[in-house]
Amino acid sequence: MHGTSSFLIVANRLPVDRVGEKEWRRSPGGLVTAIAPVMQRRNGAWLGWTGAAEEELKPFDDDGMHLIPVPMSALEVELYYEGFSNATLWPLYHDVVAAPVYSRVLWDAYRAVNDRFARAAADAAAPGAVVWVQDYQLQLVPAMLRRLRPDLKIGFFLHIPFPPAELFWQLPWRNEILEGLLGADLVGFQRPGGASNFIRLCRRLLGLQNHRNEILVDGRTVRADAFPISVDFGELDQMVREPRIQARAKEIRAELGDPEHVLLGVDRLDYTKGIGQRLKAFGELLGDGTVKPGEAAFVQVATPTRERVAEYIRLRNDIELKVGRINGEHGMLGSQPITYLHQSYSKAELAALYCAADVMVVTPLRDGMNLVAKEYVACRHDLRGALVLSEFAGAADELRQAFLVNPYDIEGMKRAMLAAMRATPHELGRRMRSLRRRVATHNVDKWASDFLTALDAH
Ligand code: ADP
Ligand code: G6P
Repeated sequence: MHGTSSFLIVANRLPVDRVGEKEWRRSPGGLVTAIAPVMQRRNGAWLGWTGAAEEELKPFDDDGMHLIPVPMSALEVELYYEGFSNATLWPLYHDVVAAPVYSRVLWDAYRAVNDRFARAAADAAAPGAVVWVQDYQLQLVPAMLRRLRPDLKIGFFLHIPFPPAELFWQLPWRNEILEGLLGADLVGFQRPGGASNFIRLCRRLLGLQNHRNEILVDGRTVRADAFPISVDFGELDQMVREPRIQARAKEIRAELGDPEHVLLGVDRLDYTKGIGQRLKAFGELLGDGTVKPGEAAFVQVATPTRERVAEYIRLRNDIELKVGRINGEHGMLGSQPITYLHQSYSKAELAALYCAADVMVVTPLRDGMNLVAKEYVACRHDLRGALVLSEFAGAADELRQAFLVNPYDIEGMKRAMLAAMRATPHELGRRMRSLRRRVATHNVDKWASDFLTALDAH
């Protein structure tokens, strides 16, 4: 029996996340930020996990979206989500900045949960439907789904980097992952490099032939290409023009003691984000007297994430120790150089924070795109504010007028942070105008329609 959805998103997470017994909040991360507005403007269904273990829920509607929950046991959360997805694939795909865990037990769970998602998608999709599978947690779904429902049009988009062959090669199940992805008609990546890594691996590991971006497999062609994701520029641009957001931004600056410079970091508390490196650079600027205490305040918002995975526990301890040290050494009674907030905030509060920040510091060691950088740009119609951006974020391909940095180079980061703090309004305006032109025209709607048009044409 077929379902009724003619457009279906399949993602590990639903856009809402279960907290406690009854409450919901927006799910963390860039995937949900990007897909939610796309879904609200199209009629379709979103299939995914609620974030809670051992919970069977009926489909429901929320915020203009039709949501279909996929259940997960506590053991699956541990082995598939915390394990294979976030202790194996996440570090492997991010330049092995932490050591990936390779375990057959985790792999078995990954396969089993991917199979459940594929079956749920097969049940929900109408004949000939478009099914768009998202991200590294579900790389086996395209092939599993094609076996169950050859009538469907299947797209896949990877939100994180696709690693170079030398790293991907480590994975004991490398062929299975490639074969899983090849079940799609169109495989999308953030950057052209991801697509060419994938094509090269299909050639070398599976012996497949390709013609440019088209890979030949079982008499079909699979297209692999780059579709850089983005933000809802219009929504943010409009929101920050509201007087309540501007008033809140002023209030935030006052609460920080009205320093000359407010620097801001907004990330999930993830070891790929380079939070330790940026705090070290800021601490050294205070330590060597280049920046005087009270002259600059650093606000670091770090959303809790994947809190039971070993590397994340280690990172949290490391960051909290660093913050404590810097504040201990350079703070004064009633004023501390770093305000560290291990919390998640509403869109409005984040927008006010972006407006309050003179310098946005985005320094990942590796990042598929980084939407925070684009959100900051979308919030600065006043053409003030400087963006310090890592060369290793996908966003650096597009945001060339940012103060670009290598996050491993602490001296370089100190120089870039200082240059950003000291830039003239004229220079800031020139840079921000160009950044905004890019994000305004390459917004999330363009991303989705580019992908779906390419899928449709396939
Ligand atoms: P990732 O997907 O790796 O988390 P991105 O920068 O692409 O990184 O996306 C992060 C998303 O999460 C952004 O939309 C950002 O606004 C949101 N976000 C980050 N920190 C917080 C926070 N503390 N509270 C609420 N939302 C947050
Ligand atoms: C990144 C990933 C998403 C993920 C998000 C939040 O954006 O690409 O797939 O949903 O982080 O992580 P979480 O593990 O909480 O879903």
